[in-house]
This record gives sequence, C-alpha cells and structure tokens, in this order.
Amino acid sequence: MSSPALFDFFLPCPRGLEAALAAELAEIAARHAGAAQFEAGAQVPGGVHFRGGWKAGMAANLHSRIASRVLLKIAHRPYRNEQDIYALAAEQRWEQWFSANETLRVDITAIKSPLRSLEFATLRVKDAVCDRLREVSGARPSIDTAQPDVRIFAFLTATDCTLYLDTSGEPLFKRGWRLDKGAAPLRENLAAGILRLTGWSAGTPLYDPMCGSGTFLAEAAQVALNIAPGVERRFGFEKLKQYDVTAWQALKVEALDAKRAARASRADLGIFGSDISGDMLEKARANFERAGLPSIVLKQVDARGMTPPVAAPGILVANPPYGERIEVRGRGPRREVRETRRGDDNEGFRRVHTDAPDSEFFQSLGDALKQRFSGWRAFILTSDRKLPGQLRLRESAKTPLFNGALECRLFRFDLVTGSVKQRPASDTPD
Ligand SMILES: C[S@@+](CC[C@H](N)C(=O)[O-])C[C@H]1O[C@@H](n2cnc3c(N)ncnc32)[C@H](O)[C@@H]1O
Repeated sequence: MSSPALFDFFLPCPRGLEAALAAELAEIAARHAGAAQFEAGAQVPGGVHFRGGWKAGMAANLHSRIASRVLLKIAHRPYRNEQDIYALAAEQRWEQWFSANETLRVDITAIKSPLRSLEFATLRVKDAVCDRLREVSGARPSIDTAQPDVRIFAFLTATDCTLYLDTSGEPLFKRGWRLDKGAAPLRENLAAGILRLTGWSAGTPLYDPMCGSGTFLAEAAQVALNIAPGVERRFGFEKLKQYDVTAWQALKVEALDAKRAARASRADLGIFGSDISGDMLEKARANFERAGLPSIVLKQVDARGMTPPVAAPGILVANPPYGERIEVRGRGPRREVRETRRGDDNEGFRRVHTDAPDSEFFQSLGDALKQRFSGWRAFILTSDRKLPGQLRLRESAKTPLFNGALECRLFRFDLVTGSVKQRPASDTPD
C-alpha cells in the first residue's frame, strides 16, 4: 500500500503564541491526525511550520484554537524581481487544486523585500495564476476580494518567495458564532492562546471581571466541553479539488457528536464573568447562546468591588479598558481634551480623550486583588507597561504578545496569602 502524500503547512498566529501553537498542534496530531502523519516543524516569529497528510491539515483547521490560518505550501524559490515571482507562480499546477470557475484572491506579505511595489507583485502573481489556468483550460478565473473561493498567499523575504494556498478561507479566529461584538473584543485565537499561557485547565475556576463580549469565557468553555472551535464553520479546503473527503467527514462527525454531547451536558464549568456594563453582558449572553454555552455564570459588577465567585482559588484573566478606544467606567467625570493632529494622509483629524489617569481605578483593582483573591493567579493583558505599578503589585512574569499590531504584555500576579509583593507606583517599567 502506498503511503499517503505529505504536505508542508504553515500556520500563522498572533506573535508571542508560537510555542503555545506548537504545543497545541502536537496534541491535535496525537488525538485527531495520527502521529505518523505529522512532523513538527520550525517555530518562526508569527507562526509554526509542520509537515503532514491532508488529515493533519484538516484537523488543524477544525481544532486549532490558536492558529489564524492553515496555509499549504505550494512553491518556494529565491527571487530578485517581479518577473521571477511571475515565473514561479506560472509554473505551478494550480489546475490540480481549483478550476477557472472558482473566484480568486491573492495577498502578499513581505519582510525586507527589495521590491518597490507589493501591489504590483500581487498583480503579477494573480496574472500568472490566471494565465496558467487559461492556458490549460481556456478560461480565466474571476477575482473576488470580498468572498473568494480560493485564496493564494505569497510571502516575500529579502531573497525568497513562498507561495501558499490557503486551506482555511475566513481566518480561523472567526468561529462562526459571534454576532455581538463589544467595543474592543479580543480575537478568539489570542484569547485561546492566553488561556493556554495561564496554564488553566478545565475544572479550575476561571473568572474574567471585565469580560465584555465574553471571549475568554467562551474559549474556555469550549475547551472544557471539548467543542472544536471550527465545528460551526466552513473551510477553504472544501472548495478545493483534492482533499480527503472521507477523512474530513469522519473528523466533522466526531466534532458534531462532541458538540451535541456538550449541549446536553449540565456540567458546572466553574467559568465566571462580570462587567460593569449590562449591555456588554447582554452581548456576551447572546454569543454564548449561539455558541451552545449557556452555563457560563455572568454578573453585573464594578471590578473594583469584585469578589471571588467561588471559595476555591482559581485563575483570573482580563484585558482591562485602555486609552481612547475603551474607557474605564464607574468613576467620577473626567475633563475631555480635544486636540487636532495631522494624519498620514495630511487630513487633520480630531481626537478626544480624557486627561485624568486611570490610576485611581487600577489602584482599587489592585486592592481588590490583594485583599480578596489570595491564592488566585491573575493574568492581565495590557499595552500599558506601567500596569503593575498602577496596581501596586509586583508581577511574577510578563510575556510579550501582539494584539494585532499593538504590542502588549501579559502580566502574571501570584496572589499568595500574606506574601503579595507590593511595588511602589514609581517603579520603572521595562
Ligand atoms: C477591553 S474590554 C474587554 C473585552 C473583552 N475581553 C471581550 O472580549 O469582549 C474592557 C471591558 O471592561 C469593562 N469595564 C470598564 N470599566 C469597568 C469597571 N469599572 N468594572 C468592570 N468592568 C469594566 C468594559 O465594559 C469592557 O467590556
């Protein structure tokens, strides 16, 4: 019997979560894809490589909570100019994967590429693929940037071009159940990666006191109930000519069965959330309902007055309000400051912010943690490196993470009884 074909996959993820994704992939391979069909590859900034069969690629799409996409490597070669990129794309047997009836989108990402226009390079890849299909089938595919059937990604370094076929379609953080977003929801895959970094596992109490639309809570509940993150959605590979339909059906049936069992379960998940905003809690409830996660306990509470939701210590995780996008609520009025700046496009724009620091709020939050959460471990994601000083707590660890382009830190505070390390507000952050 001939052994099934192996492919090279690359899974992009939020920067800072590469090791967490690699660990998750190894678990997915062991549980769903068959270890023999999976060879772990390098972790690089912003993603993880692996080699495996189609089943491994499909299982990664269905089960990865941390990856943003699963890209299938088609070709890789050094390049010097757009013509080299055109030639590489024109040589590939795209007709094996899709026909001219499918709509197409091409995207390019580059690090230190010498090319002057990435837009032109993108057009050259698109032309090469369309020319190739016209040559072999007599028809050119149409371009659809909004809802393409097939997506091709080109990745350029200073010297090399890699072409990928996207097997995911919509990015994987779109789980297919979120309707109601808060003002600044976390992406689902960042929330899932953070949960893994906290070391939380099902059965340990989990509390988000500024839960907004409930991303941490929904991700945790899906882990606890063994619900595959992609069970509600479709994937790009379903539009491709060759993928292992039998293996996909088996994976999907298994995931649907697990989801049905989860819906029937009356288990107490020990997952709790609160927020000062009743509107946000309504959004969270609607999301949980759609995701089949009705047993998450929610309460309207100002985080300064929060108390542990259960007697046993657990893990507290939150991304508090920050800056201009989303404000701390529940404190006295602040004076609005209006300023005019010049944007990149030289159009003046107005910015409104408030001039009082949030230190009062964070000091009270720190007090609540110290006084009422002994034995808990708290993990707080923020772009504000002065947070430990504001909370008057010394962090036990901090992990750099990117929330989109925003560089953040995940601070960990071990709230051990009687030995909470305090730090003065003036400590210099690094
Ligand atoms: C950055 S958002 C959190 C987003 C959330 N992780 C999600 O995925 O939607 C911050 C949240 O803090 C809440 N908030 C603001 N002030 C608060 C306070 N004093 N107590 C509790 N929650 C507060 C806001 O209502 C908002 O939902």
